[in-house]
Amino acid sequence: MNVPELVGTARTLLAGDKGLLAMDESTGTCNRRFAPLGIPQTEEARRTYRELIVTTPGLSESISGAILYDETIRQRTKDGIPFATALRDSGIIPGIKVDTGAKNMAGHPGEKITEGLDGLRERLGQYTQLGARFTKWRAVIAIGDGIPSRGCIEANAQALARYAALSQEAGLVPVVEAEVLMDGGHSLKRCFEVTEEVLRTVFNQLYVQRVTLEAMILKPNMVLPGLASLTQEPVDRVTDATVRCLMRTVPAAVPGIAFLSGGQSGELASARLQAMSVYSQSALPWDLTFSFSRALQQPALEIWHGDEKHRQAAQAALVHRARCNRAARRGEYDSRMERQ
Ligand code: 13P
Repeated sequence: MNVPELVGTARTLLAGDKGLLAMDESTGTCNRRFAPLGIPQTEEARRTYRELIVTTPGLSESISGAILYDETIRQRTKDGIPFATALRDSGIIPGIKVDTGAKNMAGHPGEKITEGLDGLRERLGQYTQLGARFTKWRAVIAIGDGIPSRGCIEANAQALARYAALSQEAGLVPVVEAEVLMDGGHSLKRCFEVTEEVLRTVFNQLYVQRVTLEAMILKPNMVLPGLASLTQEPVDRVTDATVRCLMRTVPAAVPGIAFLSGGQSGELASARLQAMSVYSQSALPWDLTFSFSRALQQPALEIWHGDEKHRQAAQAALVHRARCNRAARRGEYDSRMERQ
């Protein structure tokens, strides 16, 4: 394991005011996003859409790294250029989602365990050959009646830590994603408690599994009330709760935290990131950035709608959301940017 090289990659991913683009939706998730728009759920439609993303002019001004999926990292542009190469040539570091999905957890109704450790060492070798420089593994924790259970949190934290150790062994920076879901009617306080417990457990397991904290990126949820909660909190309460929770749980050795969007609208995600950036200018130990999928891609996907004649307009929408989040990282986002 070449620690200085790993640390260098992590720092490049976090540098300046850029963030990560998650375009690693599994085939099932991508099809579920296509379905309501009437886009054919075919490999060629997914390829065409991902080609639109990786060939978007100017994307690298705001995006340092893009996370691909197993199908996508093997695909090429219509001119025959592998997507990972197209990204690299445009100045974006290619990454890859390496878990094989969150499955129902035995003995734990309503809870999921993320799988994919079997054969992971070999797959990481392949992904390196295909051009990946960093990886992602996503654990999902649901909040509900009597859940999450200790069993679910511990099993997911251990899997995350074992994945992160294997990834660093392979020379790939792990993006450790622990997502407390927004589904449900829970309060901000409940999300805070669960996120705190999850992150404490994850960092304990990362220590036990000998993961180098300086050579990883944490990808957490923001601390938010559930989508069905009647009390939707103002931006400053969300910012305050999120930063307090991270201060309690994330060691200062971790170079950066890249938030997932989790189903927030693009504008709300930017506004909350903006407030967090302003807060962080008063000395937080880690860089704060974004690693959004829906909050970056959704407007572009809706404009494209499966029709190549909307390609340029869709690319413009993607660049716009990326620029808004870049501005948010600098603390310069303003909702008036949305009307420009
Ligand atoms: P969202 O930003 O849409 O939550 O996706 C982030 C992600 O990478 C989920 O695994």
